[in-house]
Amino acid sequence: MKILSIETSCDETAVAVLECSGGDGDASFKVLGNGLHSQSAIHAEYGGVFPAVAKRAHAENAVPMLMKALGDAGMLSEGTTPLPESFEDTLSREEGLAEKLRAFFASHARPDIDAVAITYGPGLEPALWVGVNFARALATTWNVPLIPVNHMEGHFLAGLGVEEDGGIRIRAVGLPVLGLLISGGHTELDLMKDWLSYDELGATRDDAVGEAFDKVARMLGLPYPGGPEISKRAEIDRAAGRTDAYAFPRPMASSDDYDFSFSGLKTAVLYALKGRDITELDREQVARAFEDAATEVLWTKTSKALDATLAKTLVIGGGVSANKHIGETFTKRIAEEHPGVELRIPARALTTDNAVMIGMAGYFRALRKEFADPSTLSANGTLSLAAR
Ligand code: KG4
Ligand code: ZN
Repeated sequence: MKILSIETSCDETAVAVLECSGGDGDASFKVLGNGLHSQSAIHAEYGGVFPAVAKRAHAENAVPMLMKALGDAGMLSEGTTPLPESFEDTLSREEGLAEKLRAFFASHARPDIDAVAITYGPGLEPALWVGVNFARALATTWNVPLIPVNHMEGHFLAGLGVEEDGGIRIRAVGLPVLGLLISGGHTELDLMKDWLSYDELGATRDDAVGEAFDKVARMLGLPYPGGPEISKRAEIDRAAGRTDAYAFPRPMASSDDYDFSFSGLKTAVLYALKGRDITELDREQVARAFEDAATEVLWTKTSKALDATLAKTLVIGGGVSANKHIGETFTKRIAEEHPGVELRIPARALTTDNAVMIGMAGYFRALRKEFADPSTLSANGTLSLAAR
């Protein structure tokens, strides 16, 4: 099955074409095409993502990314594709996008695509809507099923994938799987008991961990996104073997639940820096102390959840799973404290938002014929992976 997948929940405009085969628990994915436009340079000016700015940039880049993905896949051929009657209605609120898409259909033949998968939540609603309307228009014009995908399921399943034969394969997954999903918008622990059936064990009560990385980076005068900037400096401090100059709290580390809180940690950094001229040495030392504290909180809760759930697999997903220290700490401590548990961390390209993960999740949903009606599918900014 060839799936064209779309992701616009935050600040990445992404379109991918995947060739998918296999079934639940053992499936292979070949990435035939991949278009990814990051808006981080635009949002860097504001130090974070502004929904209206993100929406405009998605509308601008959706068709170019579609053409990139189809072009990679060798599916961009000249011709015309007639528009369905519903086309103008579907895109009535997406002016810039409608114009580009009309031009695209007027000059390109229908590609050999079997279904369109789209992130419909969670995320920033104005951003999600661009993708949803784009996908609705593609699915009706090409007359293929529309697969609604939960962004967090994309992160979860992409993390289970292993690179194999130039593609990605998900296989031999020991159930239950505990998922630690850490990104700019989310921090949560979910348990996949049976294939694609989830329970949410806990989540952040305030800031997401990626958001805390981004805000601390901003306090240190570092650009958005802050995660990689913090990580780089923390590594320098660790390599220098300096003694601890800062000690930050580990909020809720010992609370009797699986929830997280990162706003207190962020505030502690703010107070430590108050009224100081920040030097590069401060940046490195604060970065390490902050990263140590965040990592320890994540590990403590995850480790407790592994004990309680007897999970056989731990998967880490989301943008923050690209963090080197978190990956190394989890690898080491799983081996020491939970030797029977298999840890899976996604390949770097699949950690931050992308459309490949949406196509992967979409495939398993398509196997279950979980399609949406393109005339009524809505974006849902607060969609959850599981009911509590
Ligand atoms: O999954 P993602 O691309 O978007 C959301 O769904 O939010 O995650 C983006 C987040 C940002 O907060 C970014 O700072 C963080 O992931 N991030 C990192 C690293 N790379 C990206 N955080 C810590 N260390 C990194 N190496
Ligand atoms: Zn994400």
